[in-house]
This record gives sequence, C-alpha cells and structure tokens, in this order.
Amino acid sequence: ISFVFSAFSVTYVVGTEASFPPFEYVEDGEFVGFDMDLIREIGEMYGFDVEIRDISFDSLIPSLMTGNIDIIAAGMTVTEEREKVVDFTIPYYSADQSIMVRKGEGTNLSILFTEPKIGVQTGTTGDLWVTENLIDTGYLPKANLTRYDTFNFAVRDLVNKNIDAIVLDNPVAERFTKTDPVEIVGIIKTNENYGMAVAPGNEDLLNMLNEGITKLQESGKMDELIGKYFK
Ligand code: ARG
Repeated sequence: ISFVFSAFSVTYVVGTEASFPPFEYVEDGEFVGFDMDLIREIGEMYGFDVEIRDISFDSLIPSLMTGNIDIIAAGMTVTEEREKVVDFTIPYYSADQSIMVRKGEGTNLSILFTEPKIGVQTGTTGDLWVTENLIDTGYLPKANLTRYDTFNFAVRDLVNKNIDAIVLDNPVAERFTKTDPVEIVGIIKTNENYGMAVAPGNEDLLNMLNEGITKLQESGKMDELIGKYFK
C-alpha cells in the first residue's frame, strides 16, 4: 500500500526552535524530540513528509503567516494572544513555568529577593511572565532581564554566572537538570497547554493534525512517546 503514498508524497515544512529538550533538540546533527516524533508519526499516518526548519522562537508565528513554514511544532503554548493570529490544534501536553538556578545555589525562592539577573527565551510565556510580573511592576530593573534566542545560550550564561536564574517551561527545566549543573527552585503555576499551529483557515491541515493527535492518544502511542522522552 505504501507506494500509493510515496507516489503522491507531499512535504510539509515544520518550524521549530530546537533548543527545547526533550521536545526538540539536535542530536548527532538530527532534529529529535517529542514534538519531532509526534509530527513524523502523524506524517506517516497521513502520508506526508516532514522537513524541519530550526528558527528563532519569536520568528515562528511570522514565518507561518508568510507561508515559509506550514506547521509550528515547538512546545508552543496556546495563548489568547497567539490564537488571534494562528490556529492551534487540540492540546497535546501541559506545562508550568519553573525557576532554574545553578546547582547548589539556593534551595528555595530566596533567589527572588536578591535582585537576580534573569534569563528567558525571547517571546516565550516565560518571557511574558517575567516581563509582566517582575519588570513592569518595577520589582526588578529592566536591565536584570536578558532575552536569549536559544536556551542553550541562556543555560551557558547561567552556568558561567552571567545570570542567576532562568524562567522556562518546567518539563524542559527538568531535562536540563539531567544534563547541566542546574536545579529547579520553584514552580510558577501557569497551567499552559501546548498545541501545534497552522495558518488561519488552513482547515484541512488542522483537522488532519487534530485527528492524528487523537489517534495517537487513543492507540497508546502518545503514552509510549511520553515514556520515551520523560523519564
Ligand atoms: N511554551 C513556551 C511558549 O510557548 C515556550 C516554548 C519554547 N519552545 C521552543 N521550541 N523553544 O512560549
């Protein structure tokens, strides 16, 4: 049967930002991770090829709008603001924000009382949370916030003591505690849900992705992927 698919094979360009383990990261020169497996599985189910493009997180939505990419699969939180511009799939994962510091430096939120230098990824919900709650309120000077293009740079700066904390999605922080000398000192309950996104009105693609997610959930494949990436 597979020749039927390959004969008419369609390629969708999938935009991501690959410094977000275990959702998307680079290993041996390949894009791997939970989101990457997810979209490739759906591609296999519906007979499309996937071409991954790694771009800065805050360029993902603009790239979707200009048609440079067809799908965003980037651990992207469904927010009201974003929903005004793109169409999200049904949620496939939930997360909160966490406060991550260097290992051994503080076991509680006392870090927040020391005028910390905080790093975030530009345009993320972590960026929004810090901006709204710590900067706009005047609690921290603007200069204490550094916005990074990738989490790899942010974690490097944290470990090198150029910043004191990073605010980022909890599952990703958890993962960094396993690969880098960092630890989590607090969780900010933001109740976020991740969805993939398509350009508004791209209904056929959206329906296919939604159906794909549902089928993966029903077949137990989703749990299998969760087991593979979140141990
Ligand atoms: N969930 C957060 C957001 O939507 C962070 C996502 C960052 N994703 C990435 N691939 N770097 O803002």
